[in-house]
Amino acid sequence: MRKKRLGIRFQLTSAIVIMTLAGIGLIGLLSVKIVERSALFWKASQAGDMVRIVRASFRIEDEGKAAALTAAVLREAGISAFRLTGPDGRIAVTEGALPVDRGALFAADDGIEAYVYGGGWFKGAGESLRIFAPMEWQGKGQGTLELLLDLHDISSELSGARRFLFFYALLDSAIIIGVGILFLSRSVVSPLKRLEEAATRIAGGKLYERARVDIDNELGSLASSFNSMAERLEEEIRSLERVNLDLVTAQDELLRSSTLAAVGRLAAGIAHEIGNPLGALRGYVDLLGRGGLEPAEKTEIIEGASKEVARIDTIVREFLGVARPTKAALSPVDVNSLLNETLSELSLREDFKAVEVKLGMREAPLEVMADEGKLRQVFVNLLINAAHSMEGQDVKSIEISTGIEKRPFTPLVRRRKDDPPLPGEAAERDYVCVSFLDSGDGIAEEHAKRIFDPFFTTKEAGRGTGLGLFVSQSIIKAYGGEITFRTSAEGSVFTVALPAGRQQ
Ligand SMILES: Nc1ncnc2c1ncn2[C@@H]1O[C@H](COP(=O)(O)OP(=O)(O)OP(=O)(O)O)[C@@H](O)[C@H]1O
Ligand SMILES: [Mg+2]
Repeated sequence: MRKKRLGIRFQLTSAIVIMTLAGIGLIGLLSVKIVERSALFWKASQAGDMVRIVRASFRIEDEGKAAALTAAVLREAGISAFRLTGPDGRIAVTEGALPVDRGALFAADDGIEAYVYGGGWFKGAGESLRIFAPMEWQGKGQGTLELLLDLHDISSELSGARRFLFFYALLDSAIIIGVGILFLSRSVVSPLKRLEEAATRIAGGKLYERARVDIDNELGSLASSFNSMAERLEEEIRSLERVNLDLVTAQDELLRSSTLAAVGRLAAGIAHEIGNPLGALRGYVDLLGRGGLEPAEKTEIIEGASKEVARIDTIVREFLGVARPTKAALSPVDVNSLLNETLSELSLREDFKAVEVKLGMREAPLEVMADEGKLRQVFVNLLINAAHSMEGQDVKSIEISTGIEKRPFTPLVRRRKDDPPLPGEAAERDYVCVSFLDSGDGIAEEHAKRIFDPFFTTKEAGRGTGLGLFVSQSIIKAYGGEITFRTSAEGSVFTVALPAGRQQ
């Protein structure tokens, strides 16, 4: 099953939406982070100012007063927790609770260190900022001042900015997506759709269809190239159709004229074949007409005349046999035994006496459906032809072989050659093949294409009528088979192929 495809409109829209949201989201997040960082720096620098005040007070006052002053200043500045530790580790002043761990180092600047608690990429600026500052303890060494600055004020201020940024990003995305989709749809998606529709209609046979895309970009030029291509295609197909029509007409004419020519040749052949006995008949009739003949002479003339009539009768009958091939008398015939019978009959004939026959027969009976007499006639003709081709040779040998071969099967209902077989119709079937290989001098190239034509013969008058192969081919074709041949200077092989078995 074909996978349902996502349209180009959907694909482009989702790409725009994803890209815009990702881009604007990232920029928004980055801006929030930058603002948060500068707010933290500002806080840290405020703390730095405070530390400087405390340091100054330590320089002018004694330890106790300075510590009290420090506490007062830090409280005044709203610092929730602080601790001042002397050089000996003694806590001079403390207020509120300081976290035990140090948090993440944020900045080290101007003699102070700042650490942030909480916060992160998606969590805001943080909860508090812890400041460490070394303190000069009036010549006694170094103490430390630790402050904890609350960052909630920054966070609440920035959450407003964050909300604003979020809405701004949404609005921005909506505008970009809307404009992008509108633009893409006008300049890409719709022209492509129209192009696709036109292509589908042309593929469906509407050759006159064109893509209506009037846009001035690459798709516009693609559409106009597509239209010129469709125009060329239409012209080519129309001219091919015209040529095809001409060809069909020419073929019809050719067929008619070649049929006429064949009929003409046939008629001429018949006229010629019948002409000789007719001439003789006229002679006999003339003789009879003159009268004054002895009874013995009369009998001789009548016998001669009836021989000529018999010749005419044979020719006419042979033709009727070809013109009306009868299927009524078909019965199963075993090709091997028919060949043996034919060979023993032929061995009595003068022109077959000196021929040596080699048999290469398949042992099992090879049955075909045929009229035994007609099939014998085919074998006789092929064997006599082979014998004639070897006349004048010292050794005359014919090799006969029979067997079964698989061949492409052409059903009687004519279909195109490359059509797949219908259900129950085998693409191939078994054929009984009989080959007659002679060692004659082959068939000249200019004769080879004419040997199946009626009255084509290379034999002298009275020896061959040139009907043997024509009649044989007609007989075999009527049984669904065919006669083929190969020839060379070393001899020829004629093969008769007939559908095997009792089914036609
Ligand atoms: N085995 C073969 N070797 C050489 N030429 C052949 C062979 N078989 C047929 N031919 C050629 O084909 C021609 C036509 O043969 P076909 O059997 O139709 O007529 P034919 O033998 O001349 O006369 P007939 O009507 O008495 O058979 C022959 O005259 C011969 O030239
Ligand atoms: Mg012949």
